[in-house]
Amino acid sequence: MKNTYWSTYVQESEELYRSRALRFHDGNKDLWLKAFQIENGMKVLEVGCGGGIFCHRIKTYLPDTDVTGLDFDTGHIEYAKTKSLELNLNCKFVNGDATSLPFEDNTFDTCFSHTVINFCEPNDFLKNNTGY
Ligand SMILES: C[S@@+](CC[C@H](N)C(=O)[O-])C[C@H]1O[C@@H](n2cnc3c(N)ncnc32)[C@H](O)[C@@H]1O
Repeated sequence: MKNTYWSTYVQESEELYRSRALRFHDGNKDLWLKAFQIENGMKVLEVGCGGGIFCHRIKTYLPDTDVTGLDFDTGHIEYAKTKSLELNLNCKFVNGDATSLPFEDNTFDTCFSHTVINFCEPNDFLKNNTGY
């Protein structure tokens, strides 16, 4: 189902991508990768990935990771897929709801999310992001 509310009225995909590029970059990558507890070879899920910059950067820095980004905004997901082709990065991007994830338990080694829980009902968000 098409849902471009966020990318149309809240933050356009390119604007979101560029703003995060300023905040998380080569100069501080060791800090934020450590904070997210991501290591090469892991299967990683980002919940609420926007235009996909974290996924792209993780795959660039740690090429043996298997990276999936999920967002409910279909405009962001299309942007992330297009950008993956442009950057020649093999990341997966799926449309879905953080409070009802479309994955089997134990699909991922780790899961992280940045500035998304505050837009969801927190108990629904947490109960659906702990078993993957
Ligand atoms: C402030 S943006 C942060 C995007 C990305 N995490 C980042 O830091 O660049 C919030 C994101 O959460 C997504 N989002 C909000 N509620 C969601 C939900 N219930 N399920 C999936 N994504 C959601 C929005 O579409 C948007 O991309």
